[in-house]
Amino acid sequence: MKAHSILVVDDDLVAAELLAEVLSREGYRVELATSGEEAVKKGEAERFDLVITDLRMPEFGGLDVLDAFKRMSSDTMTIVITAFGSFETAIEAIQNGAYDYIVKPFKMDDIKQKVARCLEQKALLKKNAPAVPATEGFAFKTIIGSSPKMLEIYKTVARVAASEVPVLIQGESGTGKELIARAIHDNSPRSKEPYIVLNCAAFPENLLESELFGYAKGAFTNALTDKKGLLEEASGGTCFLDEIGDMPLNLQVKLLRVLQKGEIRRIGANQNIPVSVRFLAATNKDLLSMVKARQFREDLFYRLHVVTITLPPLREHPEDIPLLVDHFFQKAISKTKKDVHGISKEAMDTLVRFNWPGNIRELENAIERALALTSNKVLLPSDIPSELHGAEARFAEERPGTLRTLGEIKIDYIEQILKHTGGNQNMAAEILGIDRKTLYRILKRAKGEGVEGEEEE
Ligand SMILES: Nc1ncnc2c1ncn2[C@@H]1O[C@H](COP(=O)(O)OP(=O)(O)OP(=O)(O)O)[C@@H](O)[C@H]1O
Ligand SMILES: [Mg+2]
Repeated sequence: MKAHSILVVDDDLVAAELLAEVLSREGYRVELATSGEEAVKKGEAERFDLVITDLRMPEFGGLDVLDAFKRMSSDTMTIVITAFGSFETAIEAIQNGAYDYIVKPFKMDDIKQKVARCLEQKALLKKNAPAVPATEGFAFKTIIGSSPKMLEIYKTVARVAASEVPVLIQGESGTGKELIARAIHDNSPRSKEPYIVLNCAAFPENLLESELFGYAKGAFTNALTDKKGLLEEASGGTCFLDEIGDMPLNLQVKLLRVLQKGEIRRIGANQNIPVSVRFLAATNKDLLSMVKARQFREDLFYRLHVVTITLPPLREHPEDIPLLVDHFFQKAISKTKKDVHGISKEAMDTLVRFNWPGNIRELENAIERALALTSNKVLLPSDIPSELHGAEARFAEERPGTLRTLGEIKIDYIEQILKHTGGNQNMAAEILGIDRKTLYRILKRAKGEGVEGEEEE
């Protein structure tokens, strides 16, 4: 087999040669360029499988190299080299279609792994998908976050957008699943085609079926004319099945058939209709446990699960909170037209410390509410809803004599979470990391009702 060709671009000759040396020893054919201009010249003369370019170079920088190669040879993969700590440009590069980034100083094993994975991916993409039009950059301007966790998400989105595979998006409520689904569609070759969203939790079973598949005239009493279903409407484009965990088992079978055969049959009709739909699905449930409990079909799970994107809860990337706060502040201020200039450091600290059971949606609501209610020029800690000031803060505010027990604070906290889940105890238990029975027991005890066989958790 012909060796893969790699172009290494770095104005630091020592670093470039080191990298070239390591990659040659892995059996790749490696060329060097010590400036962006030279890289482009070489790219015009021959086609490379992969370009690894430093981002920071005088005049013609790494992003320009990326751009030039995207135009010249859209199937050339790119990896960018970034200095430790300057993730922002790496994000920009990923958003512009780079496959991955490596951090200077180099870790050779890391590089070997990333290069191998990248070239594997190239082979896969070539087999499965039309390349994204070379001039179209990745557009996820409204998705905020520059933490390593979010960067991983962008990378996966950029990678899967170009292909046709189904994507399962998982994550707690409010982590941005809908936003990510939309970004996949918008960056896919189907972006100009329909994007149809169906919330599986919003319909009773029979209605969900007719929404999805449509019906033939006379199929049931009210079927006065033929009606197209959403899957037909989505043909050529993307269908996003939100809350897929709530799809009834009997419909799961029918959906599986669509995924396998690429055709649907309207209810009451006797003919199949071919459809070309790319499926995205989202859930905040643990589908694998549902499979084990036979509440979700295993075959459908594996079909949907080809690529999984798991969005992190906000408490696992708190470093993104200030960026998100700024974003939501700007968004809200343009609506309220209030004369508020910003947010105080203390208020920001409170927001960063809170653990956000309702994730990004809850943060957005908190900012909107604070802005609507404040009469200050700058948001102060007192503008931040009191339940967001952690347990210690609340403790400190209590007057002597009214000090509350840890148990009471726990109940308070649980009640807040129940409020977020709209009273859904299963979801609340999941967020709290305890099982449903334990939650039930705590609540029962709080109401002063004893529970049989009670033990301390
Ligand atoms: N990374 C992000 N940057 C900016 N806004 C975000 C981000 N993630 C989520 N949001 C915003 O937070 C809100 C909730 O996001 P979204 O509806 O996508 O969450 P979800 O995971 O689908 O939640 P649910 O499971 O409750 O349906 C939306 O207003 C969305 O625009
Ligand atoms: Mg959603």
